[in-house]
Amino acid sequence: MVKHNNGRLPNTQDNGPYAHVVGWGMAVPDRILTNQDLEAIVETNDEWIQTRTGIRERRIAGEHESTATLGLKAAQRALEVANILPLELDLIVVATSTPEHIFPSTASLIQDRLGATKAGAFDLSAACAGFVYALNMAAQSIRSGSIQTALVIGAETMSRVLDWQDRGTCILFGDGAGALVLKASDETGGVRSSVLRSDGSGWDLLTIPSVGSRDSNVPEANPDELKMYKMTMNGREVFKFATRVIGESITQALEMAGLQVDDLTLIVPHQANNRIIQAAARSLNVEPAMFMNNIDRYGNTSAASIPIALCEALEGGRIHEGDHIALCGFGGGLAWASIVVTWTGAETGEPRTLGKQRRQLTYLGANWRRRIVRWGRRLDNVANRIHPERGKLSRLRHKFDQQKLD
Ligand code: UT7
Repeated sequence: MVKHNNGRLPNTQDNGPYAHVVGWGMAVPDRILTNQDLEAIVETNDEWIQTRTGIRERRIAGEHESTATLGLKAAQRALEVANILPLELDLIVVATSTPEHIFPSTASLIQDRLGATKAGAFDLSAACAGFVYALNMAAQSIRSGSIQTALVIGAETMSRVLDWQDRGTCILFGDGAGALVLKASDETGGVRSSVLRSDGSGWDLLTIPSVGSRDSNVPEANPDELKMYKMTMNGREVFKFATRVIGESITQALEMAGLQVDDLTLIVPHQANNRIIQAAARSLNVEPAMFMNNIDRYGNTSAASIPIALCEALEGGRIHEGDHIALCGFGGGLAWASIVVTWTGAETGEPRTLGKQRRQLTYLGANWRRRIVRWGRRLDNVANRIHPERGKLSRLRHKFDQQKLD
């Protein structure tokens, strides 16, 4: 019988399989929007933004970029570091609040582009806590033994949901993506514990109404007031909430892992505001330098901020084998979550150059596969219209699919 841990999954169990982080990657658009640039858009100034938030500049997606294209780039880089083939992926989860569509999921678009034909794919909505939620879901799937390898992506194009006349929000956010590859191993380590929490009574403190919103369906609704698909935020309330939950949730995750705050070498928080990070450091009684902080260059990239900050911490040599680190996300929902990871960063796969070539071939193959399958569907439709009773192409495709399954 499964032994329950106060109703939580028994994720501190000391037997495998363990979920190790074996790959990481990030992608941000080239276009930089500085605080000075914003002075020409809304009534604000560089001094206010820097002192109240710590942000100097953020990245803004170009017209051909989207959450899926940024997520794909980050994913390809993470697969490179992990040195595994897309075919080895069992699961792809994308945490995002700015998907290209309500459905299909952005994860499905990325799955197709990667050629990860054996992976399940879905998006996860938990706003700025989304990446930590997604990491927990993927890690628990590995811990349960149901999958071996997962790709977890946090990707956003926040610039597309900002109200560029609202200086309370448009100065804060930016675009980008980060990804991690998780892999099962019998060696102790990897994702040690996780705490997920939500308080939906604060749903309206940070929100983006969409087509299903109750408010949009009432006859007296005024679409201009509603600002459909645009973000609104009560900054002060979210600030208070964030400073309250970060320390609390990291402490809970540490307790579940049997660790203490002194055991941590680095905390990677959601990058929302420099002052929130400083308040969290005070509440945990640690130096602010213990927190990874790159908000000055990217602003708040919502679900992407933690994996981007993690990648930069790794590039900067701030994480080593055996280190215990904590990740903490918080935001719309209200939702918040913390995870403790014991870093191993083990390498897997075949020789790197060979792996790289096979990955490139898979991406190329995925591109052709998509074109052929889509053309096949069109031809099939035409053939069915001409000879509805014969449906020869349908039968051929069915036979082909059956063979693939066998
Ligand atoms: O990612 C999800 C989690 N998100 C967060 O954690 C965000 C949490 N909130 C915050 O980070 C902060 O509340 C903000 C950065 C959004 C705002 O900072 P604040 O210190 O809470 O400012 P405020 O909203 O209390 O506004 C103070 C003053 C106001 O003027 P008055 O009423 O005192 O005259 C605002 O109108 O600053 C004014 N103000 C600005 N001035 C120049 C607000 N935004 C701006 C601006 N430039 N961009």
